Order: sequence, then structure tokens, then C-alpha cells
Amino acid sequence: MGGITLALADQSGANTKTLSHPAIEAKDISHSFGAVKALVNANISVSAGEVKAIVGDNGAGKSTLLKILSGLVIPDNGQIFLDGEKVSFTSPVEALKSGIQTVYQDLALIDTMSATQNVFVGREELASNWFLKKLGIVNDRHMHQEAIKALSDLGIKIPSLNATVRSMSGGQRQCLAIARAMLFGHKVIILDEPTAALGVHESAQVLSVVDQLRSKGLAILIVSHNMQHVFKITDSITVMRLGVSVASRKTKDTNPEEIVGLITGAISG
Ligand SMILES: Nc1ncnc2c1ncn2[C@@H]1O[C@H](COP(=O)(O)OP(=O)(O)OP(=O)(O)O)[C@@H](O)[C@H]1O
Ligand SMILES: [Mg+2]
Repeated sequence: MGGITLALADQSGANTKTLSHPAIEAKDISHSFGAVKALVNANISVSAGEVKAIVGDNGAGKSTLLKILSGLVIPDNGQIFLDGEKVSFTSPVEALKSGIQTVYQDLALIDTMSATQNVFVGREELASNWFLKKLGIVNDRHMHQEAIKALSDLGIKIPSLNATVRSMSGGQRQCLAIARAMLFGHKVIILDEPTAALGVHESAQVLSVVDQLRSKGLAILIVSHNMQHVFKITDSITVMRLGVSVASRKTKDTNPEEIVGLITGAISG
């Protein structure tokens, strides 16, 4: 798990207190597109092992906030902290290198490649043989084994890892994209409407993978309009309204009525 741990012991050594930082935290983020104030002093934080939803009406600023956390948009104002350390991203690659992986709805999988090839695309391991390595020939067998292990660890069932991604269902594709995000040691996973285009069974599969990632200690941020899924999978919810993060609640301490009221403004945060 991430975070700095301070052990403060009393004289007997019995009293130990732990202080740890969120895996990712954004403070006072403001951003405008011309005259449109997309974000106004927005705040959000997610801890290791926590699943948090960002909910809000169309245009509330959810996607803009995600894009800022994943380095796609540079905010006008505000700070981002990773494990308590201030960071500022100028590109998505920088965010990725810092351990933040975003899975977009279109998944960025390559249709004509197999599941295994998709898991490792762009990061192909070179064959261990020095001669093959020199020729840039990749270690297909080892990649294949690693991909199978990762997918089975997550309980993802894909009929054939050798089949091309084109033949997979939306749920299998989404799970594969999430598995890929997890395999490379990322600490924070940002999911943009992960179940929006999926059926009941496929959504359940994706939610189960999210649950597995939480138990592996990742911090997960999900934008979703599906209140049922939000209540099923998250530990906490942040409500955005007109660019402002109006309220945050522990999921167990709230209910869909309150969240909808906060979204519409009928209830003030
Ligand atoms: N690239 C852009 N150029 C101009 N305006 C933008 C841009 N991106 C977002 N906006 C505006 O910023 C505001 C926030 O948009 P954002 O996409 O963050 O909302 P959202 O909460 O994700 O909405 P939705 O639920 O519809 O996806 C909106 O008024 C939107 O029109
Ligand atoms: Mg959006």
C-alpha cells in the first residue's frame, strides 16, 4: 500500500498511530475553457484499496477532472498529490509513468491482435536469448503465460487468449483493458463509465474485476451515471455540480435519494 507511515510510540511502545496520505489527491482545481468554468476549486481524493465514484449531471466537470488527473488537461489552478507528494503532469505519459492508468470507454485495444498481444502491446518483453533479443524478437511464450496468470488471478474468463479481440464481448474487452492497466504496477486506475455500454452479465464481470483490484490495494476512481453500480461497488462518492465538488460521502452512510438530491441541487452539500 502507498503512503507514508509514521509510527508514534508512547513510552511503553504500545500506542502506535498511523498517518497515511491518499494515493491521489487533487486540491482546489480550477479550469476554464474560454468563458466556461468547467471546474471551480474542485477537490477529490482516493486512498489505496478504495473505490470512489465521481457522479454529477452532464457538464458537471467530471471528465475534465479525470483528464486533469491523467495528464490530458493542464489545470489553470490547483495541486495534485501522489502519496502526499506534489506532482504536475504535462502529458498523459508523465501521469502513466507516475502510476496513474486511465481506461477509456473505447478501450484502446487493437482489434486484430489477440488478448495476450493486447495485454503486452507496446511493452513486449524481448526474448531472453541474446541473439533473438538483438533481433528484437519478442518472448511470446513468456508473455502468454504472464497474461494467462494475470487474467486468471482476476477471475477473467476469456475463451481463447489467442483469438483476436474483435471476437470478444464488450465485457471481456473492458476486463482485458483493466487487467492490462493492473499488470504494469499502476497505483491508481481511472475508469471512465466502465459499464456504460455493457449488459447485466458483462457489467457484473467488470464490477467483479474492480473489486479484485481494490483487494490488491489499488486506488480506483470511477465516473458513472449508473447509481445501482455506484452503490454496489464503491466505498465513497464525490458529487460534482456545476464544476464544484459539492459533497463527499461514505457509500454506507448515504443512499441514492440523497446522492440524486445533491446532483440536482435539491439538497445542498
Ligand atoms: N474541450 C472543451 N472545450 C470547451 N468546453 C469544454 C471542453 N471540455 C469540456 N468543456 C465544457 O466544460 C464543462 C464540463 O464538461 P465535462 O466534460 O467535464 O462534464 P461531465 O461532467 O464529464 O459531463 P458528462 O456527464 O456529460 O460527460 C461543460 O460545460 C463542457 O461543455
Ligand atoms: Mg464526461
